[in-house]
Amino acid sequence: MTLRRTKIVATLGPASSSRECIAALIDAGMNVARMNFSHGTADEHRERARLVREIAREKDVHVALLGDLQGPKIRIARFTDGKISLEKGDNFRLSISHPLDEGNTDVVGIDYPDLVTDCRAGDELLLDDGRVVLRVDSVGKDEVRCTVTIGGPLSNHKGINRRGGGLSAAALTDKDRVDITLAAELDMEYVAVSFPRDAADMHLARKLLKDSESQAWLVAKIERAEAVADEEALDGLIKASDAVMVARGDLGVEIGDAELVGIQKLIISRARKQNKAVITATQMMESMISSPMPTRAEVSDVANAALDYTDAVMLSAETAAGSYPVEAVKAMDRVCRGAERQAISQQSGHRMGQDFERCDETIALAAMYAGNHFPGVTAIITLTESGYTPLIMSRIRSHLPIFALSPNSATLGRVALMRGVQGITFNPADMPSSDVNQRAVSRLLDLGHVAAGDWVILTKGDVYNSRGGTNSMKLLKVGERLV
Ligand code: G6P
Ligand code: MG
Repeated sequence: MTLRRTKIVATLGPASSSRECIAALIDAGMNVARMNFSHGTADEHRERARLVREIAREKDVHVALLGDLQGPKIRIARFTDGKISLEKGDNFRLSISHPLDEGNTDVVGIDYPDLVTDCRAGDELLLDDGRVVLRVDSVGKDEVRCTVTIGGPLSNHKGINRRGGGLSAAALTDKDRVDITLAAELDMEYVAVSFPRDAADMHLARKLLKDSESQAWLVAKIERAEAVADEEALDGLIKASDAVMVARGDLGVEIGDAELVGIQKLIISRARKQNKAVITATQMMESMISSPMPTRAEVSDVANAALDYTDAVMLSAETAAGSYPVEAVKAMDRVCRGAERQAISQQSGHRMGQDFERCDETIALAAMYAGNHFPGVTAIITLTESGYTPLIMSRIRSHLPIFALSPNSATLGRVALMRGVQGITFNPADMPSSDVNQRAVSRLLDLGHVAAGDWVILTKGDVYNSRGGTNSMKLLKVGERLV
């Protein structure tokens, strides 16, 4: 069967913590297991991570772990009765001095002192991802007085956003700092930063990871209005990251659903142009939390993200807390494969008319261009230390599988997120340099990925196991004696 190119990130949670379920998710096509640090205990994440590693090893596949930091989501405090119900036209106050456990239908506490300086009369505040909406009438010394414009139930700890953005606490909380050490302990391949405002937040996260001796690649979640206010802000954030996530939940609340689709397309395209991976996330198969079948709209959403060449599509509650986690992964697998069969998924105009910046980038892109235009080619083989060369390659639309050969298990996990890339364990330093090409091709032949008579393209550098050194590509005919 052809390899699926678009990768699937599935969130593990109470519905998907058993050995059986994790094994079934891997069989169904989960490429990256996401641990959401907003929920669950460190020991629960440890146990899930252990199971993923163990089962992937048994099945001889590479599954990456992604730790998603909670970040500074601003939330209301608690209600005396756990929840209230608000009606359109009601007056309701958010107070920075009201006792945090004693919310009622008039007022609720909030542990965010800047609320009174960040809000103005006329602002729109969205609670619980926009299910309840308040209009600010006036702002006092320690409270914001509002009128309910969309009513509904409201329970403890629901998130709050301001339309247009502007409620912003520092991106890395004390809890995030602890969770970064957990991600390091579990050798997670990716760590996602929630609500980063700018490159500086990403630099700080990178420093904290480094201090914990983590090799993880950093994902910026694009979910603040400020992050997409102009292309300069967006590009700065992308540049400071290794990958980005279109975090449509909070982003949609802040910028409004009308703008969301256009921004999603912009983020995907700008990330790819800057050699970064991109994940499209939130509510992709939402109805599958309680139904074994996606809606047509969900099918269309996943397919369109795949057609726009996202690296990965993501499942959140569908797999973490839903009744049909395995079916949700299977549905994504099927829909992505269908999208990938469309001609538009295979033809590339990527960076045409643009200069390249680096030698390895030039070889990586040239290899894809050659492969796409020479019909006998059936695979791209790239020797990689860190996963950087296949990352660049996989920015280009193609029907060709990209096999990333590396001795490093962290690298093999990392490439599991990249579109069209499959990791294969291979150590060029173990063999005479004159044998490397032959052995690399034989490895693919043994695995059944290529056949005698095929052409393959292989890239590598002059020195083995050195990052950034790729400087050659070669066209090789499978079955012939290769040097
Ligand atoms: C392997 C190869 C080197 C190549 C490197 C590229 O280590 O043996 O010849 O230079 O990969 O690694 P990168 O991390 O830049 O993809
Ligand atoms: Mg979010």
